[in-house]
Amino acid sequence: MHLTRLLPLGLAAYVSAQSLTTILADNNATLSTLTTLLALVPDVVRTLSAAQNITILAPSDTAFANLMARNPRSAELTTNPRALAGVLQYHVLMGRLLSGDFSPTPKFPSTLLTTPFANVTGGQKVGLVMVNGTATVFSGYKQVAGVVTADVQFDGGIVHIIDTVLTVPANPAQTAINTGLTSLAGALTAAGLVDPVNSLADITVFAPSNDAFKAIGSALGTLAPQDLAGILGYHVLTQQVRFSPDLLGTDQMTVATLQGQNITIRRDGAQVFVNSARVVIADVLTSNGVVHVLDNVLNPSNSTATPDPDSPTQAPAFAGVAAVADPPLTSGIVPTTTFVPATIPLNGGAFVAVPTAVLVLAGGAAVLAASF
Ligand SMILES: *[C@@H]1O[C@H](CO)[C@@H](O)[C@H](O)[C@H]1NC(C)=O
Ligand SMILES: *[C@@H]1O[C@H](CO)[C@@H](O)[C@H](O)[C@H]1NC(C)=O
Ligand SMILES: *[C@@H]1O[C@H](CO)[C@@H](O)[C@H](O)[C@H]1NC(C)=O
Ligand SMILES: *[C@@H]1O[C@H](CO)[C@@H](O)[C@H](O)[C@H]1NC(C)=O
Ligand SMILES: *[C@@H]1O[C@H](CO)[C@@H](O)[C@H](O)[C@H]1NC(C)=O
Ligand SMILES: *[C@@H]1O[C@H](CO)[C@@H](O)[C@H](O)[C@H]1NC(C)=O
Repeated sequence: MHLTRLLPLGLAAYVSAQSLTTILADNNATLSTLTTLLALVPDVVRTLSAAQNITILAPSDTAFANLMARNPRSAELTTNPRALAGVLQYHVLMGRLLSGDFSPTPKFPSTLLTTPFANVTGGQKVGLVMVNGTATVFSGYKQVAGVVTADVQFDGGIVHIIDTVLTVPANPAQTAINTGLTSLAGALTAAGLVDPVNSLADITVFAPSNDAFKAIGSALGTLAPQDLAGILGYHVLTQQVRFSPDLLGTDQMTVATLQGQNITIRRDGAQVFVNSARVVIADVLTSNGVVHVLDNVLNPSNSTATPDPDSPTQAPAFAGVAAVADPPLTSGIVPTTTFVPATIPLNGGAFVAVPTAVLVLAGGAAVLAASF
């Protein structure tokens, strides 16, 4: 318990519950921007004031100031009530989630953000994880926010003040383009799959890294679009959003893909393999599910490929291919911004190198505002 952090807000925990309005007024020194924004969307305020058992992740004034500084287009939210409501709804979780409920194994509660801003049954998710003793939230592009003041009780639930505005998850193609998965984005484009994949609901995408595509570069030039589509479809699970705890839940499972053939998901200690490919970044949230980054491209004609868990790298699952130097299929793929997904190990535990730039780049508000 960080007692110093709980003062003065923590005092609220010792009196009987107060209204959200009272909590906001009492904390105007930290939450004045949020209060101002809420005043622009009275419907959201009515919903929150009447709600029971919710958890509000309340960005501090500093969080909003950082967002505006890094992404001036965020200011457009103040003239777009629909998008603003969406951004704020993404900060409201169903259920009472105290800081003590955050653990090294991430949880993915639902938020109030739903269609058309998100195509995830039950509402878009956030990730909650305890990293080095800090309650941490991750959102779109796996951008992280830290809880700076935890467990403020109000009569509808819990408020946690966070240091970064959450990023509303973008669609899979946009997520690929803006997280350095430009070969995947190019492959989806070449196969005519951008819109079909973006418009699915509740999906899991295994996303080969650019290095994975480079390793089979010689094979890609000669592929017909429908063959490429078959390979990409072999990386997509429909009607199932499988987050990392699910992937780590059993030693081995066989799952049918969008392409029709099965993949095998295996756990080895705290690592996850899909056929012979390793999951190198897990749990990147998208508008319609989740992406896990792989170090190899999966081959539907080689579904029996198995990993060597002791080796840091795996042979490509395509026989007789040669690597190329530059990321294939990236012509015309231009990121609008660059996000580096946080590296949170699959088993929780220590944080590995999250560059400061990552923490300040969150531009979800602008991303959402720009699309409506
Ligand atoms: C809250 O803080 C803002 C900015 O500091 C100020 O303009 C506003 O008057 C304050 N509101 C209340 C109710 O104290
Ligand atoms: C809120 O949670 C409490 C405790 O779990 C439960 O008893 C109550 O029915 C819930 N209220 C609503 C409106 O969901
Ligand atoms: C959700 O799906 C609908 C219908 O396919 C689509 O129009 C909408 O753009 C999708 N939302 C997002 C955020 O991608
Ligand atoms: C996929 O696996 C299921 C059950 O494990 C099996 O019944 C089915 O035949 C497999 N499909 C293919 C295309 O191999
Ligand atoms: C299947 O994948 C393995 C690597 O896991 C590779 O060594 C082998 O050549 C591949 N076979 C075919 C037929 O592509
Ligand atoms: C978390 O703890 C590890 C090991 O003590 C340390 O190397 C790392 O820098 C810490 N990360 C953060 C974000 O505090």
